[in-house]
Amino acid sequence: MKVPFLDLKAQYRQIKDEVLPAVENVFENTAFVMGKPVFDFEAKFAEIHNTNYCTALSAGTDGNHVALWGLDIQHGDEVIIPANTFIATAWGATLCGATPVFVDCHPESYNLDPAKLEAAITPKTKAIVAVHLYGQPADMDAILEIGKKHNIPVVEDAAQAHLSEYKGKKIGGLGVASSFSFYPGKNLGAYGEGGAVMTNDEELSTKFKMIRDHGAKQKYHHLMYGHNYRMEGIQGAVLGIKMKYINDWTEGRRRAAAKYREMLSDIDGIIVPKEMDYAKHVYHLFVIQVKGLDGQERTERRDALQKFLGENDIASGLHYPIPLHEQECFAHLGYKKGDFPVTEALAEQGLSLPMFPELTNEQIEYISEKMHEFFK
Ligand SMILES: Cc1ncc(COP(=O)(O)O)c(C=O)c1O
Repeated sequence: MKVPFLDLKAQYRQIKDEVLPAVENVFENTAFVMGKPVFDFEAKFAEIHNTNYCTALSAGTDGNHVALWGLDIQHGDEVIIPANTFIATAWGATLCGATPVFVDCHPESYNLDPAKLEAAITPKTKAIVAVHLYGQPADMDAILEIGKKHNIPVVEDAAQAHLSEYKGKKIGGLGVASSFSFYPGKNLGAYGEGGAVMTNDEELSTKFKMIRDHGAKQKYHHLMYGHNYRMEGIQGAVLGIKMKYINDWTEGRRRAAAKYREMLSDIDGIIVPKEMDYAKHVYHLFVIQVKGLDGQERTERRDALQKFLGENDIASGLHYPIPLHEQECFAHLGYKKGDFPVTEALAEQGLSLPMFPELTNEQIEYISEKMHEFFK
């Protein structure tokens, strides 16, 4: 049996008959950039997240940038971000000329650890970015409380967490702004690049829309600095169709995660991801950890497991093998190995198993059989 890491073809086949006419319609209307499909999508996406305003963008990375740009983050400012995330979270800060300041992640949620947050705040801290990594929300109440105490806005990086919930509330409108990615492999993926930034604040939303379109409300009247971060019409049309299915696909991921948990929980050598009491996890990724060993040894065991699964036609991934504070591009910031032990352990021993809504119980049973074989 062959198990891919994700199966975009299965999803395309499901919606092909609806997607192709919608794309053709964009061509017929020559609405190549922005246009009705994009605006309709913005309204729907904001609505399903109980958030007032959505600004569709050309990528999720742009969402990280626009959110902080809209908050006037600039050179000399510091922005706190988790060490355990994809690098695009940090680009939001660096593109504004600000310095990213890293914080370790919580050992169970794998997200920004509120207990370690306050120590990273300085008079230069101008924003905190909480990432809902792998599809599980960060502990927003605790993070927002610290933000409020120090008068620092909290931004959500929700690139991996469409429709996830924190204490029964949809993420996306919990902080002052939130960014999303619609990269094809995401829980809601475009057929190309795509992203969004959301907020409940009307003024901020107006600013986001101006930044997206050369700092203008009206063509050739540039009220502030901006950029071209507009979404393509085709992506708006594809995402609009996909919105009908996003709830079902999310439940598909949750079903697959529950099946994994049922099948793998008896393996002593691994830790399966925990769904926090406060969370509705949407399982963008299902990251297990190979446990009980030290440094080099656990990485060797993890890598051997990945190789063994690969030899049995089971694809897997690493998210993320090099924590941000150990990346060469941030060497000048002066961090060193050992600064963020929880994030480092995750990088050394984490392994992402196949995860997509169409993953069948038979495929998960096969993965489980091979995992048991390896750990025997
Ligand atoms: C946590 C996180 N933030 C931001 C991004 C950036 O999104 P995009 O690839 O759409 O630019 C990603 C994408 O992988 C991500 O995982």
